[in-house]
Amino acid sequence: MKSVLRLLVYLILLLIILAGGFALFIEIRGIPKYTVEKIDFPDVQVTPERVLQGEKIASVQCIVCHRGSDGKLSGRLLHELPSDFGEIHSANITQSKEHGIGKWKDADIAYLLRTGCKPDGQYLPAYMPKFPHLSDEDLRSVIAFLHSDRPYVQASEIAKVPSQPSFITKFLCLVAFKKIPYPAAQIVEPDSNNLVQLGKYLVTGRYDCYPCHSKDFKTMNMEFPEKSEGYLGGGNKMITLEKKERFTANITPDEKTGIGRWTEEDLATALRKSKNKDGKTLREPMLPYTGLTDLEVKAIWKYLQTVPAICNQVDRKWDQD
Ligand code: HEC
Ligand code: HEC
Repeated sequence: MKSVLRLLVYLILLLIILAGGFALFIEIRGIPKYTVEKIDFPDVQVTPERVLQGEKIASVQCIVCHRGSDGKLSGRLLHELPSDFGEIHSANITQSKEHGIGKWKDADIAYLLRTGCKPDGQYLPAYMPKFPHLSDEDLRSVIAFLHSDRPYVQASEIAKVPSQPSFITKFLCLVAFKKIPYPAAQIVEPDSNNLVQLGKYLVTGRYDCYPCHSKDFKTMNMEFPEKSEGYLGGGNKMITLEKKERFTANITPDEKTGIGRWTEEDLATALRKSKNKDGKTLREPMLPYTGLTDLEVKAIWKYLQTVPAICNQVDRKWDQD
């Protein structure tokens, strides 16, 4: 009997040592670095068209997280992130050579936005989104905007505050958050004759509607967006800037719980003016997409009609404000 007990004690001790060793390994490994391969990405020609397009994309894809206390993209504490991630600060991405990305080559920016890896291979976990489906031309436009004379991107000398990723974030970098391969082929925007394909591109590429509008960020499929769990069926819990819980809307064509009874007009008003079919004002983090062209609205509308309807009644908590 005694020897069985002793064996048990040894076993437990061994388990504790193993668990401790594993935890130490995760702490020391930290956020991993990856090998950065050379890519063929010539410097972007900054044209007024690209700057305009880039600003339109950045206004819904970058500015929210990177706008700092001086109004420029100087970085800030992302206090709206779940605290499980740790204390996360976005970076200064203005033209400052010292504190911003003024010294980065265009290929470095492109590589980071596609794969999540900085020029030294340092990987940025899920709190910095990746843009694997953005077309090459839209990517060039975002970069042109970063080089432009727009106030947002003028040099700010606010130094980046280093993030303090949590143990969980480091652990997730071992099992879930991984570098995304740089695309093997060019990504070209579908042409405007194929509205459904164009709409799919807008929802999964240029504007990335699907991560927020599918079931959960944890089960989104970045490689094949349409395979994400509960694709566009809403119910993903978001934390607002005031730390309130807010659930995303079901935007599949389900008649009862989605937007199956909406018209294209209704969608245009919701997207551009933040008013839904019931006259309710849409709240953050759903931003107004004021710059959408008529073609873009039409394409998103046509595409949303083709998405499988999901019956999912989301509690929108309208009483909260
Ligand atoms: C959800 C918030 C969020 C969004 C949206 C976002 N970023 Fe970031 N970004 C971050 C965070 C956080 C970091 C820094 C992570 C770290 O180093 O700990 C970062 C880092 C970066 C860096 C690296 C800078 C450096 O010096 O390390 C660049 C460049 C960048 N972002 C550009 C962009 C661009 C361009 C967009 C839009 C296309 C964008 N980001 C959208 C949160 C965001
Ligand atoms: C950052 C996350 C986020 C992104 C990106 C996003 N949405 Fe939303 N969206 C939300 C949230 C949250 C709501 C609910 C707002 C509320 O309840 O006030 C919402 C609401 C909506 C609604 C209103 C539906 C209704 O029944 O009231 C529509 C339509 C919609 N989004 C479409 C889109 C489209 C199309 C895109 C891409 C062009 C998009 N959203 C991008 C978070 C997001």
